[in-house]
Amino acid sequence: MPTSTLNARVVGITGNIVRIRSDVPLIKNAILFVHICDAQLKGEILRVQGNQADAQIFDETEGVRVGNGVEVTDQMLSAALGPGLLGMVYDGLQNPLQALAQRDGFFLARGTSAAALDEARRWKFAPSRKPGARLRAGDVIGTVTERRFQHKIMIPFGELGEVELCSIRVGEFTVHDPVARIRDGAGRERDITMMQHWPVRRPLPEKLLRQQLCERLYPIEPLGTTIRIIDTFFPIARGGTACIPGPFGAGKTVLQGLIARFSTADIVIQVACGERAGEVVETIEDFATAKDPHGGVLMDRTIVICNTSSMPVAAREASIYMGVTLGEYYRQMGLNVLLIADSTSRWAQAMRETSGRLEEIPGEEGFPAYLDSSVKGIYERAGVLKTKDGSLGSLTMMGTVSPAGGNFDEPVTQSTLATVKTFLGLSSARAYKRFYPAVDPLISWSRYLDQLKPYFDEHLRHGWTDDVRALSKLTHEGDAIYQMMQVTGEEGVTLGDYTTYQKALFLDMVYLQQDAYDAVDASTPIERQLESFGLVRSLIQRDYPFKDKEEARQFFTKLSALFKNLNYSASNTEEYKSYRSQVDELVKTLGRTAAAPATEAVPESQVSTRASVA
Ligand SMILES: Nc1ncnc2c1ncn2[C@@H]1O[C@H](COP(=O)(O)OP(=O)(O)OP(=O)(O)O)[C@@H](O)[C@H]1O
Ligand SMILES: [Mg+2]
Repeated sequence: MPTSTLNARVVGITGNIVRIRSDVPLIKNAILFVHICDAQLKGEILRVQGNQADAQIFDETEGVRVGNGVEVTDQMLSAALGPGLLGMVYDGLQNPLQALAQRDGFFLARGTSAAALDEARRWKFAPSRKPGARLRAGDVIGTVTERRFQHKIMIPFGELGEVELCSIRVGEFTVHDPVARIRDGAGRERDITMMQHWPVRRPLPEKLLRQQLCERLYPIEPLGTTIRIIDTFFPIARGGTACIPGPFGAGKTVLQGLIARFSTADIVIQVACGERAGEVVETIEDFATAKDPHGGVLMDRTIVICNTSSMPVAAREASIYMGVTLGEYYRQMGLNVLLIADSTSRWAQAMRETSGRLEEIPGEEGFPAYLDSSVKGIYERAGVLKTKDGSLGSLTMMGTVSPAGGNFDEPVTQSTLATVKTFLGLSSARAYKRFYPAVDPLISWSRYLDQLKPYFDEHLRHGWTDDVRALSKLTHEGDAIYQMMQVTGEEGVTLGDYTTYQKALFLDMVYLQQDAYDAVDASTPIERQLESFGLVRSLIQRDYPFKDKEEARQFFTKLSALFKNLNYSASNTEEYKSYRSQVDELVKTLGRTAAAPATEAVPESQVSTRASVA
């Protein structure tokens, strides 16, 4: 909030970059306000040169003139952290959009802002420490119940050294009311509220890690997404990183939405960065009504940071940092947080625009030379943390990349690939065939398949990783045979090769593809993946005495149709059991209905059901 007086002047304007001159010391990343007749425009200093500085303004700069007064603060762009964040829809500067819309109407004027946390709401604070306790930064002094979570109230993360708890209160308080009083080593006393601030560009546990008040751990567990191709073939670790690059319309947003809905994270932070406003509205409406598999509605555990294509570009960059900081805050409470950013390309484009206006020397395709380190800087904030009270929290980060023309060689995709450990590459060829999710098994990879091997061995099955690898190999073999057939026709390959190709296709149809719009198939919990994978694998490993290619083709078509129906059937139902036994029957008879006795035949009516129609 602007409190000081005007202490600088505008001396130049280029787009949303404003050059100021001041006699007070100027600090990089400090927040300032440009005063124009009817508004105060918020900005951030990006570059300091003597008594001048360039600042990006998070708003339209129309009407800003040389000579306008500027108020430079000593604050950094910060996130307000405290109870009441869940369920909120913020812009990149943490203005609550629902509250602004209620107060000012749907068309926001320039320079409007509102408090990030509801200032009137009272929260029931339950202290967990007694006066006299000696505490350090990040130590928990009490909790409030926020939706279904215990929101921990902690000693400010920037507090240096040990403090003594002088007093602590119990009761219902707003985020501005003091709930405790502390005395630092120098004997200075001050009040603590349930809200604290943290500069978004600095990793939140930075000081805590340096003082060994928390510990970074290696990710050793997967984040369950219930999407088969991800959990089985290209897993993401809890506290790990992933990217979803894909051409225009390949299904990045739909896939992220599915992951947000079904993943085993406690809290989901959705950063909508430069995407179409309509899509964001759809997500929010959907989340407000959709049931969370863990109880309540999805919005109860979600924070949306939204900076759509129609909002000022500069705040786009801030929105990612804001999202990460909120994620780090909930991780500090021992919760598992998933941050989803859609799309990081739009964020990089904002960076490119700003860098261009600052007349920096451009790197590849006009992106700033520091693109790589900026991308790394963001993803490096993911991870698993053990706090001093022994709880384990994680922040998993997943970003979509939308390379122009689907060309993965462009700088943003390349920088991201060099950073993340799971690559879920969507291909337009698969999307075009409506093979959803359009994650291409031929180009995607996950370093976590090896890294999490001990977990899979213990919790799924010994040898899981090797089996997955073997079936991954099959998809490549199948593709090679397919490519060969494109040239030579079916006649050009042996029956054995043709069968291998059919097996690879079967794996794709019934396991890699998953129907997002079917109530059962949309989400396959890991236990069911274990069972389903085992069945698929045993069906693939079999030797089938096919007479010819036509018989092989017909058999796998029928098998795929039956298996899809199995996928659509809820576990442990009669329907499921029936399809399961039909699969066994088909395998036994190879679908040779004419030759087999009538009782062993698979009735045609049961084969051509929902899946084969679809
Ligand atoms: N899993 C899926 N199941 C069925 N249809 C899907 C699936 N994923 C995507 N689609 C279809 O593809 C369309 C485009 O998907 P989506 O909006 O996610 O693409 P995108 O990659 O985010 O596109 P953009 O580059 O424009 O952001 C959807 O509207 C939907 O019709
Ligand atoms: Mg999209």
